[in-house]
Amino acid sequence: MADSRQQQSPRPVRLAEYTPPAHLVDTVQLRFELGEEWTTVSSRLTVRANPERIEAGPLVLDGRELELLEVAVDGRPLGEGEYALDAESLTIPEVPERFTLEVTTRIRPQENTALEGLYKSSGTFCTQCEPEGFRRITYFPDRSDVMARYTTTIVADAQRYPVLLSNGNRIGAGTLTDGRHWVQWEDPFPKPSYLFALVGGDLARVADSYTTMSGRQVALHIYVEHGNEDKVDHAMRSLKEAMAWDEATYGRECDLDVYQIVAVEDFNMGAMENKGLNIFNTSAILAKPETATDADFQRIEAIIGHEYFHNWSGNRVTLRDWFQLSLKEGFTVFREQHFSADRYSAPVQRIEDVRRLRTAQFPEDDGPTAHPVRPDSYIEISNFYTPTVYEKGAEVVRMMYHLLGPEDFRRGTDLFFASHDGRAVTTEDFVRALEEASDRDLSQFRLWYTQAGTPRLFVDAEHDPGAATYTLHVRQEVPETPGQAHKQPMHIPVAVGLLDRAGNALPLRMEGEEPGGTTRVLELREAEQSFTFTGVGEDPVPSLLRGFSAPVRLEHDHRDQDLAFLLAHDEDLFTRWEAGQELACRSLFRGVAAYQAGDEMRLDETLVEAFGGLLRGDAGDKALVAEALTQPDEGYLADLMDWPVDPEAIHQARRFTRARLAQALGDDFLYSYQANQEGGEYRPDPGAIARRRLKNLSLAYLVAGGVGEGIEAAREQVHTATNMTDRLGALRPMVAEDVPGTAESLEAFYTQWKDEPEVMDKWFAIQATSPHYGTLAGIRRLLEHPAFNFKNPNKVRAVLGAFARGNPYRFHAPDGEAYTFFADQVLRLDRINPQMAAALARAFSRFRRYDEARQRLMREQLERIRQDPQLSRDTFEIVTKSLGAEENG
Ligand code: TRP
Ligand code: ZN
Repeated sequence: MADSRQQQSPRPVRLAEYTPPAHLVDTVQLRFELGEEWTTVSSRLTVRANPERIEAGPLVLDGRELELLEVAVDGRPLGEGEYALDAESLTIPEVPERFTLEVTTRIRPQENTALEGLYKSSGTFCTQCEPEGFRRITYFPDRSDVMARYTTTIVADAQRYPVLLSNGNRIGAGTLTDGRHWVQWEDPFPKPSYLFALVGGDLARVADSYTTMSGRQVALHIYVEHGNEDKVDHAMRSLKEAMAWDEATYGRECDLDVYQIVAVEDFNMGAMENKGLNIFNTSAILAKPETATDADFQRIEAIIGHEYFHNWSGNRVTLRDWFQLSLKEGFTVFREQHFSADRYSAPVQRIEDVRRLRTAQFPEDDGPTAHPVRPDSYIEISNFYTPTVYEKGAEVVRMMYHLLGPEDFRRGTDLFFASHDGRAVTTEDFVRALEEASDRDLSQFRLWYTQAGTPRLFVDAEHDPGAATYTLHVRQEVPETPGQAHKQPMHIPVAVGLLDRAGNALPLRMEGEEPGGTTRVLELREAEQSFTFTGVGEDPVPSLLRGFSAPVRLEHDHRDQDLAFLLAHDEDLFTRWEAGQELACRSLFRGVAAYQAGDEMRLDETLVEAFGGLLRGDAGDKALVAEALTQPDEGYLADLMDWPVDPEAIHQARRFTRARLAQALGDDFLYSYQANQEGGEYRPDPGAIARRRLKNLSLAYLVAGGVGEGIEAAREQVHTATNMTDRLGALRPMVAEDVPGTAESLEAFYTQWKDEPEVMDKWFAIQATSPHYGTLAGIRRLLEHPAFNFKNPNKVRAVLGAFARGNPYRFHAPDGEAYTFFADQVLRLDRINPQMAAALARAFSRFRRYDEARQRLMREQLERIRQDPQLSRDTFEIVTKSLGAEENG
């Protein structure tokens, strides 16, 4: 098929083999004739040999699945013998030093289900060029270090496609006699091809504007399908907030006359930062209280911010090559997280970021697809938009932010933007700018970019009452990862504090130093190091890794009572939460052990008291209380469990603990449910979000505990709710427990929301993750449901993605039937959308963590997928790496 591998074993691309481009492109003129059967693309490039190269040699252009109609150099069409074509490139052996190249190709966007290049999403033409989609539009040096100025003319039927958009400013338009019209766009900023974008469709426009800090007016245009105009207010407000934040925090001003965003239904990821013309998944734009949850509102604000921030971190300063991906993604995720922290609650934001890192990135770093933040080889670059590049990349930037302090960090980013503006650079350029702007030496710190694997820290404490000293002995170990057997010790910032027995934070003093504050950042650089605090008369309770100061797994043998003490008293809100999670995990693992031994499971009194204290206490931030009362999820517990992972025992222990906690603390949960009822109009502000969160969490516990009043309340709330947060807050626990009335509520929900695709995604996902509805038979039914669509990534994620990630108990059912079924779906999807198929195939990648029987069953499926003769490069890479890292370099 279209995307199938050309050879048996595709050759990896290696960072070590990077060479500058042989030819540069200064200007690009594109003309698109959008048609119903095909689209004709004519390009005119001004090309010159790269002066950095001694000899340019032949002109080699990338191209995939293109029908070449014509190619001409300096106006002269080339004959057959004057160029060579293969499945991935067009080569012209003889070219002058400078020339114009004209290429005409024909493409079929209507048949493009991979959603890379130009495709159609429910009637709208749109593009996705990052990372290598532009080569599916025309022949071009499709690499990020070739930057050019683009002028784009779009011709299309005026009735069907009244809106024609591209990057930059609209510089002309007109009508043709045949019912078609044209619009011309010019982007004043040179850009790599991955930032090119085009849209053609019949869309509604919501307009606003923003005045920048220097007084320039920027028009803001958001395009959505007709009928969705009432769901863009929040996105528009978020955009303006993001613009103001980047001015205030980084001194970055918007450089555009018009900032356009288009929402499309079919999109492989959340959104894309194309210069001046962002394209978004509808799920990352559309929101109104009736259809979107608080979490959706917050996610939309974060993604709007993320794509906007890319305008500097990614677009003005771009990437030399794809190995540098984290230069823009890690930095931009860090900027996005900081923005969200400023808009809502910093500690809650931190908790959520860490939770995501631990559930997605830690397992990746500990499995067969582990790679450094700056990878050094890939088979298919689309597979490297990973939690490691994004989330761990953001952690690496965050550590430098804290090591330098906000002022020096800002000086560093100013220097970075100023010295590399308009250029394609590397993560090394970023680190060097930060070093130059501060007096920090980051040479050892750079290992965070090149060494994969999550470092483990082992902390032992020693109190000497006679000398009044307290010593922390810290040892680090960086685990072996594919291709990296031996690791060097890393530079790890470990923020610590000490609490006295009354819960007060001790002022910290180290040998030969003035007493400092109550938090101290220990900079670990050796494999083993000791840090001694003086003036510590009484044995303190250590608060370790405050704010999660480094992305590591920390081990310390706190007693349960110390954890409860930290949860109640620590001044650092992150470590408080962390202590609560650790307490919950310990209790859960005791349950796991009991379940496996066939013993009765018990609920720990310490946990009941600690959780009760949180519920009853006046602990200030309700969002924080809700975070602390949230159980670690099954996937995270699986990641913590010693071999072999037992998904059933984890599920049962977690279920038991939830139910028993609800019963033991029933009155407190009921009280919290009632006390946090909200009247009045829905507002997604931090206070209201926190109250709803705590209220619905209490409700979920009550339903899980089978508490009659709770079940009644949920049945009531699911149909009286006036916003989606509350409606789903009731329906989700009902579906999870399958309480009487659930099927009827699901049906009513469907009838009410079947015309809202984003709401249907939620309806699918809560079923796919329920142990009752997300059985294999249940999943099959969902796939056959009329509202399901295999070609729509949001639907695939809502059912298959949610099933594999959010329902490990059913996915790993011991008969292995879910594995076979799932592999069938991977193969089926691979024909349609390789990027999505490869993402799903990752569900098998850590099969070695399971018992031998499950291992065998999963391995069989991986082998079966690998043997598919038409398998895409994307899925091939994931499957072969999962089966054995040894075979890949
Ligand atoms: N650069 C996008 C971001 O903001 C990521 C992205 C969007 C992407 N669409 C994609 C990556 C398609 C790969 C394929 O993070
Ligand atoms: Zn990004």
